[in-house]
Amino acid sequence: MSGAQTSLYIEALGKVQARRGPSVVDVGPSKQRAVLACLALRAGQAVTAEELQEAVWGPRPPLSGRHLVHTYIARLRQAFEPAVPRRRRLNVIAPAPSGYRLAVDSGYIDVCRFQDLVAQARLQAAADRHRRAFDLLGEAIRLWRDPALTDLEGLLHNSEEIEALRHRWARAALEYVTAGLRTDAASTVLGTAERMAAAEPLHEDIQALYLSVLERSGQRALALARFADIRARLREQLGVSPGPSLAAAHRRLLDGDHTGDDLDEADLPAVERVPLDVGPVRPPWRGRGPMNGALIHRDVDVDALVEILAEHRLVTVAGPPGCGKSALALHTAARIRDAFTGGVVVAEVSDVTDGPQLVRRVLDLLDADPSSGDVAETLGEQQLLLVLDNAEHIVDACALVVDQIVRACPHACVIVTSRERLGLPTEAVWRVHPLAVPAGLELHALVNNPAAALFTQRAMQVQPGFRLHRNNAAAVATICRQLDGLPLALELAAAHLATDTLDGIVRRLEDPLRGIRPARRGLPSHHRSLHDALKRSVDGLSTDERRFFERLADVPSEFDLDAVRGDRDAESPEVDEQGIIDKLVDKSLLSFINRPSGPIYRILGVVQHLAAEIRAANASLGPAPGR
Ligand SMILES: Nc1ncnc2c1ncn2[C@@H]1O[C@H](COP(=O)(O)OP(=O)(O)OP(=O)(O)O)[C@@H](O)[C@H]1O
Ligand SMILES: [Mg+2]
Repeated sequence: MSGAQTSLYIEALGKVQARRGPSVVDVGPSKQRAVLACLALRAGQAVTAEELQEAVWGPRPPLSGRHLVHTYIARLRQAFEPAVPRRRRLNVIAPAPSGYRLAVDSGYIDVCRFQDLVAQARLQAAADRHRRAFDLLGEAIRLWRDPALTDLEGLLHNSEEIEALRHRWARAALEYVTAGLRTDAASTVLGTAERMAAAEPLHEDIQALYLSVLERSGQRALALARFADIRARLREQLGVSPGPSLAAAHRRLLDGDHTGDDLDEADLPAVERVPLDVGPVRPPWRGRGPMNGALIHRDVDVDALVEILAEHRLVTVAGPPGCGKSALALHTAARIRDAFTGGVVVAEVSDVTDGPQLVRRVLDLLDADPSSGDVAETLGEQQLLLVLDNAEHIVDACALVVDQIVRACPHACVIVTSRERLGLPTEAVWRVHPLAVPAGLELHALVNNPAAALFTQRAMQVQPGFRLHRNNAAAVATICRQLDGLPLALELAAAHLATDTLDGIVRRLEDPLRGIRPARRGLPSHHRSLHDALKRSVDGLSTDERRFFERLADVPSEFDLDAVRGDRDAESPEVDEQGIIDKLVDKSLLSFINRPSGPIYRILGVVQHLAAEIRAANASLGPAPGR
């Protein structure tokens, strides 16, 4: 919306109305307000004339319905832009395919502002910033002038949409009250807790929460009286006694005065698990989900990513082949899913070959018309987390699409997983490292070691009786160390236990690129063998780069540039060795360590096997330049 209209504020979370500064704008009779309400609930999106008719009159609109909708729109436009000539009044209610779109900034529509604040609060809570989350939730809850949405209910026939909105209030209110207890602000949230309890008289978790708020605000006697009311209500209406959460709250009340005590986290409900009767429980998840079970040793990475996403809208998870980038990104997305009303969309792009295909893949997941060809336009104002997974082979195309999204979609966040960062100015990069490997070959070195834990877990999947013990510790430690703690490599190696012994796997490590390739299905297809997974990183290298890369086959695991410099007088003195090494770092084939003595590069053993393979291939082509 242009600057001239920035002070126009549209409200639907109470009486449906518009304000310009402190004055109320006359938005006409109830049917005209209904049209405005319908546009506000879908702000930023196109709403067709048919949808508006159905919202206003239900499934059987009057014959003149379409004409009336046009008239209401014209009058609303006049009310919003009185000084603009009639035909140019398109800044607030813009034309859209077969209908209209409310084009007011989301910060100026209370429904959207509420959703933004709740999303920000959830990101802050996920990053353990509870006080900030509490403040944001308070601001969001205060936007609701009538949580029952009586006016909307009277105006619109879209009862499902209204229910979904009430559900959002209920969930945000639950989070607000819980955050209030957690931050010692029980008295502040008492009104909201009361309202929730009144809306859900038979919901035991919510009633228990209400009792805790009363108790912590110093109203123990009233809390005991309320408990008696609830118990009677449960008996009369459902014929049941209080369940565990209410009984525990009652015990705490009988126990004495806890007003000043530290809060026991165990007394708070796990908010996302409290079922609420209305609306969908969780935002949608489209595309591949995270693997079952917990991630090994990645708590710090997940926390860091959540923190980054609370500040930036684009983060690239980068790191060497198979180190666990995708697994980390999907787990993080699952953790913050509730912060996005539009949910999470995961586009696995390892088989995508160019920009148009990438766009089609994402549009397809969004259920949008693939011919529209514009992801940013389709996302519009949606509050959504997009994960572009395994994108290293199309970084240019990916950067183009992501840049547009970050610029044009103020409520979308993007996580990219790629061995190579995108190089965009808006991008935050989080580097993932392989899992720590055992420091020795004895059993005690394997206890609590992340790489050994992953290998053992996967080994038990194919050999349920597999356990670490003194006799197999050295073999497991060797496997973990020679495979550099790379989760993918460890997983593939463990899969061989279906048909091979541990010692057999150790023998396979002599040539891991050929030896580690168990029978395996599933996505992505380059994860079926260590060779395929690694080769993907060198596919795009030029001839000079491949020639340089082969020199890394025999260097120590840590080396400086001098160790790999070619002979200056040889055939290709113009080869930019620093440039090439920077590129290999960018592609995560090397990692860079800044030492006081100068830059050092580190190479993984499995990557050196790949360098040796390329050297052998180059040797068959003729002598290497620059040596
Ligand atoms: N911390 C972990 N705990 C348990 N399993 C893990 C962990 N990290 C990765 N894995 C598993 O290891 C395999 C490889 O991980 P993932 O696909 O995330 O690697 P990647 O870095 O994305 O690989 P690529 O570079 O090929 O994209 C997957 O099957 C994944 O589930
Ligand atoms: Mg991946």
